[in-house]
Amino acid sequence: HKGNYEHYMQKEIHEQPESLTTTMRGRLIRGGTCKAKTVLLGGLKDHLKTIRRSRRIVFIGCGTSYNAALAARPILEELSGIPVTMEIASDLLDRQGPIYREDTAVFVSQSGETADTLHALEYALQNGALCVGITNTVGSAIARKTHCGVHINAGAEIGVASTKAYTSQIVVMAMLALAIGGDAISNQARREAIIDCLFDLPNKVRDVLKLDQEMKDLAKLLIAEQSLLMFGRGYNYATALEGSLKVKEVALMHSEGILAGEMKHGPLALVDESLPIVVIATRDACFSKQQSVIQQLHARKGRLIVMCSSGDATAVSLGGACRVIEVPRVEDCLQPVVNIVPLQLLAYHLTVLRGYNVDQPRNLAKSVTTE
Ligand code: UD1
Ligand code: F6R
Repeated sequence: HKGNYEHYMQKEIHEQPESLTTTMRGRLIRGGTCKAKTVLLGGLKDHLKTIRRSRRIVFIGCGTSYNAALAARPILEELSGIPVTMEIASDLLDRQGPIYREDTAVFVSQSGETADTLHALEYALQNGALCVGITNTVGSAIARKTHCGVHINAGAEIGVASTKAYTSQIVVMAMLALAIGGDAISNQARREAIIDCLFDLPNKVRDVLKLDQEMKDLAKLLIAEQSLLMFGRGYNYATALEGSLKVKEVALMHSEGILAGEMKHGPLALVDESLPIVVIATRDACFSKQQSVIQQLHARKGRLIVMCSSGDATAVSLGGACRVIEVPRVEDCLQPVVNIVPLQLLAYHLTVLRGYNVDQPRNLAKSVTTE
């Protein structure tokens, strides 16, 4: 039940410290004397060898679940060394795209019942791929029909807009990357840093939830806008896509997530003094490139809202010209888990202020069981 919250979406956003804790419960091993820190995914342990031998890992999903896979793709490529490709389930089916016996196909679905994803699973099974599920619903069709998988254990998600499932999916896929990556010495420091960060991640999410009032104030400023762009890159391209999906599906405001590296190849033409733009510029290897994106958008008089790591406000705000959202810094590959939270809060408050139905957005269903 909703407890002290007015809407399920609000409750599910605020319970992410707890849902992330249950997602990781029993799966992170701290390591003792002489023992490395590691992860244990019970559902995959007998299949890791086969996954490591695969020629390619293909992520398949729809909507928010696709975005979560996109957020995890860089760390999976880094730790496994296996090429990772992305498929929107319906598009894979439309193209009848190639899937081979040597592929590991990973199906990401909160409900485990989405028709497009389920049909893509049947297609991949026919083509002989190893099929792995990442689902929130025990006993769901996708959980039953995959060869193996991981339950994200985020607890039932009732709001139509997916929030806590998204962050738990990313965490499970980061753990998947650690499990596939194995414990090569060359990766050890990186692995341990990620595992330490996972232990502390619920606390960091608790910290970022304190931005609730700040996001409500921002929503008041944006209440009457026609459109809101979000620019991200690297680990946080997914954050831009997912933030804008939340804004469009619940606040019923046009919003577009844009890969910042594509800015000059078209989107820059849209920028003028009236268009609000969120730029995600938290610290990682892409930071200096995002700083130059901020400068170029500012030169075109864009109304900028920059998300940066705590302490970086002066480094990104161009002398106070941009509104800033400061978030706690975590390990780069887990930063999308923290960064999405203010955007979930923004979408939530925009919806309430604009007077729309939060938990049942018009025209949408929680589980899309028809194509
Ligand atoms: C399992 C138990 C959990 C118990 C734990 C103790 C279940 C559902 N989970 O968790 O209650 O506390 O052992 O060790 O009984 N699977 C798929 N496709 C999917 C998702 C999962 O095939 O999309 C399969 C897995 O390969 C596995 C089984 O379902 O065989 C359970 O998966 P999961 O709950 O993630 O396993 P554990 O975390 O080990
Ligand atoms: C967005 C949303 C949808 C779902 C999509 C896939 O908030 O809820 O985009 O993510 O319909 O659903 P699942 O994950 O159940 O396969």
